[in-house]
Amino acid sequence: TSSTKSSYELVTLTTWLLKQEQAGVIDNEMTIVLASISTACKQIAALVLRAPISNLTGVQGAVNVQGEDQKKLDVISNEVFSNCLKSSGRTGVIASEEEDVPVAVEQSYSGNYIVVFDPLDGSSNIDAAVSTGSIFGIYAPNDECLADVEDNGTAFRVTNASPTVRVQLDSVEQRCVVSVCQPGSNLLAAGYCMYSSSVIFVLTVGTGVYVFTLDPMYGEFVLTQEKVQIPKAGKIYAFNEGNFALWDDKLKRYMDSLKEPGDSGKPYSARYIGSLVGDFHRTLLYGGIYGYPRDKKSKNGKLRLLYECAPMSFIVEQAGGKGSDGHQRILDITPTEIHQRVPLYIGSVEEVEKVEKFLA
Ligand code: AHG
Ligand code: MN
Ligand code: MN
Ligand code: MN
Repeated sequence: TSSTKSSYELVTLTTWLLKQEQAGVIDNEMTIVLASISTACKQIAALVLRAPISNLTGVQGAVNVQGEDQKKLDVISNEVFSNCLKSSGRTGVIASEEEDVPVAVEQSYSGNYIVVFDPLDGSSNIDAAVSTGSIFGIYAPNDECLADVEDNGTAFRVTNASPTVRVQLDSVEQRCVVSVCQPGSNLLAAGYCMYSSSVIFVLTVGTGVYVFTLDPMYGEFVLTQEKVQIPKAGKIYAFNEGNFALWDDKLKRYMDSLKEPGDSGKPYSARYIGSLVGDFHRTLLYGGIYGYPRDKKSKNGKLRLLYECAPMSFIVEQAGGKGSDGHQRILDITPTEIHQRVPLYIGSVEEVEKVEKFLA
């Protein structure tokens, strides 16, 4: 549990960021990047809220590098995020679910941060007005490993073709790709915005997890929970059991064990909305586990390490929880490809350790 703020001590995200800067927790450039991200999220929240009115539901008619049919709002929210980051002047490279390869930002003249993001998570829910979100992570520039790329001269780009095609990228692109592929343990900041009954902005800069709620009266994110701690255990599980037949036997045994009434006499409850942001936020506050396992069809599961699994794992660890691929800590995995997928088990420590035992 965490303390909630009483209304008179109104702290907005802007004043909270300035306090972190004064305390030396983040620098001025990071403050500007985070402020630009919160602006992007407010713009996306407004677009999502009126999507059916402004004809922004439905598909764009294009397929993204993931092989998914892009929703109109996938594309637009990607543009909103990219534009806000570019105009911040402190972002060096961006990597997005909706961009084939990372993009170097010419306009950056200081700070030079690396920002990875999923501009619209759970976008299949948009047409039914079910909760969606945006996920982001921020790294420092990663110049030291550029040498590797210069040495072997090859980098990589995920193309629409199914296997990853190793292609010679020009040096700027090479630099971008390498500077983005950092382990989640390097993250300086991570967060998400959930577009739901409330618009909730969750952020960590490495000093705990802070929750802000958008006050539509004047368009500011107001601090509503601080230093959130995820319960050590929780009897809510969020998996897409439609894939049960494709899972390996150890996982099937784990899943069956959740349905036996334990010593409490009650089995687990299933809650799954098909948006990682929504399922994760409920898990963070109520406890439990979210999982997207590998299966016979998707050898590495579905979720992307760089801009879904790593940022969420940084957040959950800051709240005293655990993020695992079933065997190892998500934050210890160094991406070798921008859109690399990994299995994800994330939530209460006891719940993640329970599934890891079954999978050992
Ligand atoms: P995105 O909309 O950014 O592509 O992410 C969708 C992800 C995640 O948000 C969600 O938990 C999961 O896909 C749902 O997948 P299934 O529909 O296969 O259950
Ligand atoms: Mn998608
Ligand atoms: Mn997503
Ligand atoms: Mn997405």
